[in-house]
Amino acid sequence: MNRPPTVLSVVGARPNFMKLAPVARALAARAARHIVVHTGQHYDPEMSEAFFRDLDLPRPDHALDVGSGSHAQQTATIMERFEPVCLAEAPDIVLVYGDVNSTVAAALVAAKLGIPVGHVEAGLRSRDRSMPEELNRIVTDQLADLLFAPSRDAIENLCREGVPPQRVHFVGNVMIDSLIMALPEARALDMARRHGLARRGYTLITLHRPANVDDPDTLCELLQTLALLAGHDAVLFPVHPRTRARIGRLNGSGIVDGVRLMEPLPYLEMLGLVADAGLVITDSGGLQEETTWLGVPCVTVRPNTERPITCTAGTNRLAAPRRAAIQQAAAAARAERPAAAPIIERWDGCTGERIAAVLCDARRFE
Ligand code: UD1
Repeated sequence: MNRPPTVLSVVGARPNFMKLAPVARALAARAARHIVVHTGQHYDPEMSEAFFRDLDLPRPDHALDVGSGSHAQQTATIMERFEPVCLAEAPDIVLVYGDVNSTVAAALVAAKLGIPVGHVEAGLRSRDRSMPEELNRIVTDQLADLLFAPSRDAIENLCREGVPPQRVHFVGNVMIDSLIMALPEARALDMARRHGLARRGYTLITLHRPANVDDPDTLCELLQTLALLAGHDAVLFPVHPRTRARIGRLNGSGIVDGVRLMEPLPYLEMLGLVADAGLVITDSGGLQEETTWLGVPCVTVRPNTERPITCTAGTNRLAAPRRAAIQQAAAAARAERPAAAPIIERWDGCTGERIAAVLCDARRFE
């Protein structure tokens, strides 16, 4: 029998943490040695610690404390600080998650040290190279030895880019594992009632992409649109630190009348609010998938998505960051709310287990 491998997982930003949790659980069940490195890309307690608590994640074995910076600074600092950890731990494989700067930085370090790289959430493509995440995805997938794809479109993208098919594993969506596991606890929090709202009686917002929040004119138009929406429905907006900083620079022209601005929410509270929302308006990748699985109408304020299955099979629709486009999409999304949540292939709560099974079959990457 093969000995269980030593797996080293690298996480750093909020959307990584819910992808790590199911893999950590499945590896623990197989008695694999699992080392967790937190780069510190996200460091505010509500962007990091709160997620470790809600997801019952083990404390990271190594904290690189890189903090914020330009893309080059952040990526370079992660690489510099991760290399000695990688050398000291000498793992059998380095696992990276999603598409953030921590993902590509760690993949580069491991690949150059000759350590096999596994990419969880491989193959997603928006075909929009102006997004930093798209560059991170393309580079990481080229470096990876094991590519864990969430959907068939992701496999097709990898195939088109010449990735050998034996490296690709159709494991499903790992974030949905976390959602399925946490949903009963999230629902028990009764978040809508806590906010004095009826089920489906509110719209939930998240916006943080540079393309939406860094340009003051675009951000102003978005905030004015939210204020209009708040005229006929309660609007809740947990604000990402990047967005909070940009709203602060608007010198009072950030009109948000009637919109409830909140601090970023911990995982369970956010999931509780998403599950009962009448509508979600977002530019997040994860929320497009979570709303699809839950059957909650979603408007994604972006010109494209790397998760097309959420539009073709799910509840998602795209809208430009313009008032009319968002209002129109919001009305259509509400009107076409599905009676039952769609079923997406392998978004079934077993993805962490499938990944661990591949990892523990050491022959696949020796
Ligand atoms: C990053 C990811 C993005 C992901 C998002 C989720 C990249 C390129 N982008 O974007 O794909 O959707 O995380 O949140 O990796 N800040 C704080 N506290 C924190 C973290 C950040 O105040 O804990 C502020 C800093 O001013 C920082 C800014 O937010 O400069 C942006 O943080 P950064 O990690 O660079 O990118 P995100 O916008 O969070």
